[in-house]
Amino acid sequence: GGFESPRRPPFEADLAIPPVIDARRGESIRLDARVGRQEIIPGITTPIWGYEGVSPGPTILARKGIPVNATFVNNLPAAGDPGNIIIPEELGRRSLSEIVVHLHGVNTDAPHDGHPLFTFPSGESFEYFWPNNDFQRPATLWYHDHAIHATSQQVYRGLAGFYVLTDELEERLNLPDGEFDVGLKIQDVIIDKSGLLVYANEGFKGVEGDVVTVNGRQQPRFEVARGKYRFRILNGSDAREYRLALSDDSVFHVIGSDHGLLPAPEPTRRLHVAPAERYEVVIDFARYQPGTRIVLQNRLDEPQDRRLEDRFDPRLPTSRVMAFDVTRRQGFTAPIPARLRPLADPTGVPTPARAARTRNWEFDRQDGFWSINGRQFAPGRVDARPRLGTSEIWRFVNPAGGWVHPIHPHLVRFLILDLKGRPRRPGESGWKDTVWLGPNVTARVLMEFRNFAGRYVMHCHNVSHEDHDMMTQFETVL
Ligand code: C2O
Ligand code: CU
Repeated sequence: GGFESPRRPPFEADLAIPPVIDARRGESIRLDARVGRQEIIPGITTPIWGYEGVSPGPTILARKGIPVNATFVNNLPAAGDPGNIIIPEELGRRSLSEIVVHLHGVNTDAPHDGHPLFTFPSGESFEYFWPNNDFQRPATLWYHDHAIHATSQQVYRGLAGFYVLTDELEERLNLPDGEFDVGLKIQDVIIDKSGLLVYANEGFKGVEGDVVTVNGRQQPRFEVARGKYRFRILNGSDAREYRLALSDDSVFHVIGSDHGLLPAPEPTRRLHVAPAERYEVVIDFARYQPGTRIVLQNRLDEPQDRRLEDRFDPRLPTSRVMAFDVTRRQGFTAPIPARLRPLADPTGVPTPARAARTRNWEFDRQDGFWSINGRQFAPGRVDARPRLGTSEIWRFVNPAGGWVHPIHPHLVRFLILDLKGRPRRPGESGWKDTVWLGPNVTARVLMEFRNFAGRYVMHCHNVSHEDHDMMTQFETVL
């Protein structure tokens, strides 16, 4: 609280499209984590940390069946560059620069998973291996920093990017592609008058910014052709969630969730996106006259969706995300197929009846710390040992009245079996890796442990909760 960023009126900046690194033919790729400068607010230069010096980092294109070897080089300043970010005193002004990269949603072996303890310092590099195996559904994944106790700050500074995995089916379906397939990373930040990012995070509850950015620019505008677009929406915020709607309240279609295409498109007027979730939507601009401006709104008047209802306050700087300006140009007009991708794939689909067991996980706050089953993360402790090749039901419980926790286990993908305390939302029938637990919500999810024995983390993806210390370890065993 207390910070007011020198925001510009919305829709001055043009939407930025991140550079692309094409790894679809199996070449090794290399990305540098380094300091960059970016006009997040038009006319003000902000120092950021970015892969290749930009935020979001380059979009990595990958192909199912073709592994990616990605070397990340830590070229951040060794002392952590505390002069380039404002960190309030109560947080100890800590700024580190050890990094570790996690591809969020990946099915890979533990050494390459970006475990928070496997950081490497400035001047060093690490080669990650992402198999893109049978189990990995083509989807919008994202890679981001995961350093122990520093993830929140480092992702906030900009260390995150898209990873788009495709296959032949994606092409056969004739969905909007090329310039009509656009990633949108939404993230709220605070910026001071001199342009520095402000990492204000009271009680490690999460940063609540007053500048909503898309792809690293304040509330941009995007000129669209008259036709359909596939938007891959990622909530890359520290803690804020969004309830997205179009300003004319019209219908759009959710076609994908965290782990790719849904069985069929789902029409909706609202899309709820919690931190780390991805949803793919198709918006059709063919119905608008050239010159029309459609605003992507956020129909929540506070950072968390505690009341499960629309609350739109147009005076709030966070109520508008970006604008689409419809041009005369003819765009992509093929119909969206009625069938997309079945839930089952070559690896099948687990059934609840076959689940080896159920485990309970409670997400709470204790003595000023975030906890899972009453405990904080401890490097030496493992809280579950699921057997490789089996499936389990994990029951996620949020008993508290006040907080929201988007829960994310590594290695797996899951289906939401049922929800108590809230309705199922558009897109939640597909494969997921992050599930929104609002106040008094319980979710039962079904997951299968495949391919890799080893130690992985599960945590809340309010990244501040994750850092302090709402994280646990499970170990898949033979
Ligand atoms: Cu987005 Cu542990 O990850
Ligand atoms: Cu949380």
